[in-house]
Amino acid sequence: MNVKDIYESMEYGPAPEAAGDALAWVVDQGSRFGHFIDGAFTKPGETFETTSPASGEVLAEVSQATSADIDAAVAAARAAQGKWEKLGGKGRARYLYALARLVQKHARLFAVLETLDSGKPIREARDIDVPLVARHFYYHAGMAQLMESELPGRAAIGVCGQVIPWNFPLLMLAWKVAPALAMGNTVVLKPAEWTSLTALLFADICRQAGLPAGVVNIVTGDGAVGAELVAHEGIDKVAFTGSTEVGRKIRAATAGQGKALTLELGGKSPFVVFEDADLDSAVEGLVDAIWFNGGQVCCAGSRLLVQEGVAERFHAKLKARMKSLRVGDPLDKCIDVGAIVHSEQLARIKALVAETDGEVFQTAAPEGCYYPPTLIEGLHTADKLMQEEIFGPVLVSMTFRTPAEAVQLANNTRYGLAASVWSENINVALDVAPKLVAGVVWINGTNMFDAAAGFGGVRESGFGREGGWEGLQAYTKPSGKPKALKLKAPEAGAPELPEGLDRTAKLYVGGKQARPDGGYTRTVWGKSGKAIGQVGIANRKDLRNAVEAARGAAGWSGATAHNRAQVIYYIAENLEARAEEFAARIDAVTGKGGKAEVEAAVSRLFSYAAWADKFGGDLRQVPMRGMALAVREPIGVIGALCPEEAPLLGLISVMAPAIAMGNRVVLVPGQAGALSATDLYQVLDTSDLPGGVVNILTGDHAELAPVMAKHLDVDAVWSFSAADISEVIERESAGNLKRTWVNNGLGRDWEQAEGREFLEQATEVKTVWVPYGA
Ligand code: NAI
Repeated sequence: MNVKDIYESMEYGPAPEAAGDALAWVVDQGSRFGHFIDGAFTKPGETFETTSPASGEVLAEVSQATSADIDAAVAAARAAQGKWEKLGGKGRARYLYALARLVQKHARLFAVLETLDSGKPIREARDIDVPLVARHFYYHAGMAQLMESELPGRAAIGVCGQVIPWNFPLLMLAWKVAPALAMGNTVVLKPAEWTSLTALLFADICRQAGLPAGVVNIVTGDGAVGAELVAHEGIDKVAFTGSTEVGRKIRAATAGQGKALTLELGGKSPFVVFEDADLDSAVEGLVDAIWFNGGQVCCAGSRLLVQEGVAERFHAKLKARMKSLRVGDPLDKCIDVGAIVHSEQLARIKALVAETDGEVFQTAAPEGCYYPPTLIEGLHTADKLMQEEIFGPVLVSMTFRTPAEAVQLANNTRYGLAASVWSENINVALDVAPKLVAGVVWINGTNMFDAAAGFGGVRESGFGREGGWEGLQAYTKPSGKPKALKLKAPEAGAPELPEGLDRTAKLYVGGKQARPDGGYTRTVWGKSGKAIGQVGIANRKDLRNAVEAARGAAGWSGATAHNRAQVIYYIAENLEARAEEFAARIDAVTGKGGKAEVEAAVSRLFSYAAWADKFGGDLRQVPMRGMALAVREPIGVIGALCPEEAPLLGLISVMAPAIAMGNRVVLVPGQAGALSATDLYQVLDTSDLPGGVVNILTGDHAELAPVMAKHLDVDAVWSFSAADISEVIERESAGNLKRTWVNNGLGRDWEQAEGREFLEQATEVKTVWVPYGA
C-alpha cells in the first residue's frame, strides 16, 4: 500500500487507548461501591451491575440507595451547609480550584472510565467532556471569588438535590456541582444508573481535595432513588437534567414544597442550512451535531432543514461523509461514533426507526450495542420522528424554500433547546437567529459549550440556565429574612349593589373594557366597613380572552426598548397627574398611606422605564474562535396574581418590569387592589400603550390560578398570592412546563421590591454563538 492508496481508502489501523489504569482503580475500590456520604464511602448495600456497553463486560457493582441512605446524605449536606457558606466565596474558591486541578491531573483516568462506562468515543471524553469539566470548576471558582462583590444581596439556597442523565455523566455532574458549591450550597447528587462510575471517582477526588465532609454527597440508584431525593423535605433546590417526561413528573412532585427548580430537558433541535452556506463546513457541522456522542445529546441537531436549491447537493455530500464515519470500539482513538449507552436505549432507537415510512439511509455498524449513522428523508412535519426526541445517531431531514419557512419549520416543535444556522450571509444568519425559539443558537457552528455561556431551554425543553451569571440565579436566593405574608381577611357583607354606587368596573382586555362573561360582580369593602365599589368577577373564558389579546400584542416584544421606555414614562406621568384620586382610593381601602403608595408606584414606573433599555444582555468570553451573546429576551405572555399587601404599588411592581422587558401581561389584582387596578384603565388608555399589552382581570385568584397555569399560550405564571395558590400553579404548570415564580406564602416589602430580581424573572437568556475574531 502506498501513500496514494492510503489517502484514497482513508483506512486506519486501530489505536486503542489502554483501559488498565481505569480498571485498576475500580478494582482498588473493591469493584463494589457504596454511596459517598459525609466525606466517606458507605459499605455497599443491595447492588446492581454497571457494564461497558461496548464489550458487555461487567465493570463494577453499584449500590441502590435506600431511604435511609438518602436521609443520611441529605442530613450530612444540611449539617455541612452553614459552615461551607460561612467560609465565604474566597474560601470556597480555593476548593473549587483544587477540584479543577485534580480533574486535570486525573484527566486520562476520568476520560477512560467515562468511555468504558458510557460507550462514548475516547476522543470525545478526552478532548471535550473532561476539559469542559475542569473549565467548569475553574470558572466557578472565579464566581465564588467574586460572589460577595458581584452578587450583593444574594445568598446560598441551602441543600441541592441533583439528578443527572447518562449521556454526559461527569460533565453534567460538573454543571450541577460547581455552581452550587461556588454559591455556598451543599449537594446530594444522583448519577444515572447506567453511568455512575465517574461520579464515584469524583467523590474520591473530593476527598483528595480535602473538601469538608458533607459538602458533596453522591447516592447511586435508579429513578426511584431520584424521585425520593427530589421530593425529600430536606432539599431546598432541585436541579434535573434528563427526559421531558421525568422533568414533568418532578415539576408535579415538588409542587408547593417551596423548592427552587431548574429542568434541563429534551430537544429536537433544528440544523438549518441556507443555500448560501459553506456546504462542506455545514456537513462537518452536522457530523458534530448529530453524531457527537452518537446523537445521545439533548441539544443534538437532529432535524436537518436544508434549502431546496442545494438540498440534492447537500444530501449527496452528507451521505458521502456518513460513509466515512467510523463506528466501533469507543476506546479506539480513531473512532467517530462509539457504542449506544445501553441495550435498552439501543432497543428504543431501533423501535422508533422501525416504525417510520420515511426513506432510510444507513451506513454500517458493528454487531453489539451499536447503531449506524442514519438519515431519514421524506417525512411530514407531523411525523413522529420529526417531533420526538430519538436520542441516537438518527437524523431526519426536510427542505424549505424561504427563510420565513425555515423559521416556521424550525419552530414547529414543542421543544426549544438549541438551533444551528448555517449561512455565509451575515444578514440571513442574524435575521433568523432572534426568530428561533431556542435557548441556544449557534451560527455556523454547533454543539459548542462553555461555562461562561448559559445553556438551557424554553418550552418543553425546561427552564433555568446552567453556566454564566444567569446560571447562578438558580443557586442563590435573595439574602435576608422574607417577610410574613399578610393576606386580607375574606370580605364580609351582602353582595348586592350598595346604594349610591351606580357603576361596576369592568375587566380590561385588549385595551378595552369588557363585561365579565359570567355576569357576576363583587362588592369591594372599604376599611371603614362601607362598600366602596363593585368589580366584575372574571372566569376562565375571560382569562382565555385576555391571553388571546396578550398573544395578539406580540408587536410589543418587537418594539424598541426606547419606545417601551417612553410609554412607561408616559404611564408614570399620567398616574402622577391623578395622584390624589388614586391616593384617596387606597386610603379608602387600607385606611392609610395612599399618598406615599402612589408616589412609590410612580417612582417604580420611572425606574423600569429607565431599565427598559439597560438590561439587554452581555457578551461572554468563551475559549473559542467566537463570542457568545447572552441576549435577554422577553418571556412572552406572563400571567400574574398580584399581591394583596399593596393595592397599587404591588400591581405596578409586577406590571412594570414585565412590560419594560417586552412581555405582555394578564394581571389579576388582589382583593384590596381591585379598584385601584380598574382605575388604572384610563391611565393606560391615555399613555399610548398598545391594546393587549396589559390586561387586567378582577377575580378570584384561587379560581383563575389553575386555568392560567394550564393555559398553553401563557409562557410564565407569577404568584404573590396565598401559599396554596403557589402549589396549584406549580402542579398545573407541569403540562407544558411553563416557567413559574411563586412566593410560597412569603410576603415582600413592596417598597423595596424593585430591580434585577424582577428583570431576571421577566427575561430569558438566549445564548447566541457568533464567529468572531481570528
Ligand atoms: P430519564 O430522564 O429517565 O433519566 C435521567 C435521570 O433521572 C436518571 O438519573 C434517572 O435515574 C432519573 N430518574 C428517572 N425517573 C425519575 C423520577 N421519577 N424522579 C427523579 N429522577 C428520576 O432518562 P432515561 O430513561 O435514561 O432516557 C429516556 C429518554 O430520555 C432518552 O431516550 C432520551 O430521549 C431522553 N433523555 C434526555 C436527556 C437530556 O439530556 N435531555 C438525558 C437522558 C435521556
